[in-house]
Amino acid sequence: MDAFAQAWRVLEQHHQDTRHILLRDRFACEPDRFDRMHERLGGMLFDYSKNRLGEDTLQLLCNLAEAAGLGRKIYDLRTGAKVNGSENRAALHTALRLPDDVEMVCADGKNVLPEIRRELNRALDFARSLDDGSYQGITGKRITDFVHIGIGGSYLGPAMCVQALYPFRRHIGVHFAANADPACLDAVLCRLNPETTVFCVASKSFKTPETLLNAQAVKAWYGGAGFSEQEAAHHFCAVSADTAAAAAFGIAPERVFAMYDWVGGRYSVWSPVGLPVMVAVGGACFRELSAGAHVMDRHFFSTPPRHNIPVLMALIAVWYNNFQNADGQTAVPYSHNLRLLPAWLNQLDMESLGKSRTSDGSPAACKTGGIVFGGEGVDCQHAYFQLLHQGTRLIPCDFIVPMTAQGREDERGRFVVANAFAQAEALMKGKTSDEARAELAGLPETERERLAPHKEFPGNRPSNSILIDRLSPYNLGMLMAAYEHKTFVQGVIWNINPFDQWGVEYGKQLAKTIGGELQHGASAHDSSTEGLMAFYRECRLKGGGAA
Ligand code: F6P
Repeated sequence: MDAFAQAWRVLEQHHQDTRHILLRDRFACEPDRFDRMHERLGGMLFDYSKNRLGEDTLQLLCNLAEAAGLGRKIYDLRTGAKVNGSENRAALHTALRLPDDVEMVCADGKNVLPEIRRELNRALDFARSLDDGSYQGITGKRITDFVHIGIGGSYLGPAMCVQALYPFRRHIGVHFAANADPACLDAVLCRLNPETTVFCVASKSFKTPETLLNAQAVKAWYGGAGFSEQEAAHHFCAVSADTAAAAAFGIAPERVFAMYDWVGGRYSVWSPVGLPVMVAVGGACFRELSAGAHVMDRHFFSTPPRHNIPVLMALIAVWYNNFQNADGQTAVPYSHNLRLLPAWLNQLDMESLGKSRTSDGSPAACKTGGIVFGGEGVDCQHAYFQLLHQGTRLIPCDFIVPMTAQGREDERGRFVVANAFAQAEALMKGKTSDEARAELAGLPETERERLAPHKEFPGNRPSNSILIDRLSPYNLGMLMAAYEHKTFVQGVIWNINPFDQWGVEYGKQLAKTIGGELQHGASAHDSSTEGLMAFYRECRLKGGGAA
């Protein structure tokens, strides 16, 4: 048996040996538990003490990471090795956020830093020219709105950051259109003036149909408003790894900002894909965001696993996913401005880790990516938290909590923080049947016995608390980088490539075929797909439209 299989087997046995130990008992017996099981980095505090583990578990999980070759793989990631094997590419998002004094990071034997800096500076300059009014609309009016057209990784990171950093906003309104459903773009356009709006078409491949359809619709919108193609082109910019395709779409090369094939879409907000962030909050805040991410990178690259925040996050996730058969994991930001974080995490984690083949193409030997979902605290306490507290499933929770709402500290802010702490405590402690009965002391005994089981909480439900002193660009960068690296480490343990997404491609191909068939008629699919298509045609005919 190799070292990894051995470490895995030991953890399985360890789970059997320790599964009876309740979290509330661990806390009762270990007064220093929090002291030993939290880490701090800058304005971040990561508390992982409310997890079903002891020092022995952590040691065994670190052994597993070592047996998986984590140290070597982190080195490969940092130094531009081709960690994305199926696409034969490096994954150098960490190079995008390096400070200016670093001189060299190579991919394919070439130093990538000069081109990274050139493109980031071009994008930052363009954002500044919109902000200070030196780039105006074709009719000489100041730009008031910026619409980012992109989807998946070309949308979620920027949109999450723009929303999270709302208190830092400058004066240009930043909007997003991702879905090809016309309702999405229509809802944005109906509020805008073509003379004072700039559109950014963001697509790494410049092939994604949702994005190109929306970009075409914007061109038509300009046409409808009486602008010539050339005049409309003045209101477009683009971000892509295929700069030639962007130029062919009619976007002037001086407003096409390059990203590179060694940046995965869901890791790309640090590249010119972050243009809407630059426009919304300014270049200085964007650089702060990157600086925060870089501090987390340094921590990740240099801290031993036992105290390494992203490594701990990943190992704890593996502990539940693979040894305790968890049904999923949830991330709950207790912050209205962070409400898109679960959607961003959804793509980061599930598109990266939803694979059933290992890096060498053989079937994965264990359960890989988890089901990651989430919602905004406190709202989701009134939606799915019932299942977390009293349901039959194991769903570990990340509570992500800024301590202050951008300097405003009033009763509501305190209420939100108190709720996050209270939920974590309630999940961990639960309520025993004796405690439930004691609460019902005033009732007749039969009534008490009848109600007590409903008021009992099993407890022993794990959570991490990730606190940040405030929701600043810097702290947001740290938080995002921590989750990026958590994802990478899970990929290392499961031996899967977190940087490709072949599974998404197949659906895209079929959609192309079916799209043509819906328009032109003839098709030959399974009876279900044919039935669905027939219903579409029937509805279109009834609505008077051509099938
Ligand atoms: O959803 C699949 C995907 O390929 C993502 O990985 C990517 O972020 C998104 O589509 C958009 O791709 P592009 O940036 O090439 O338009």
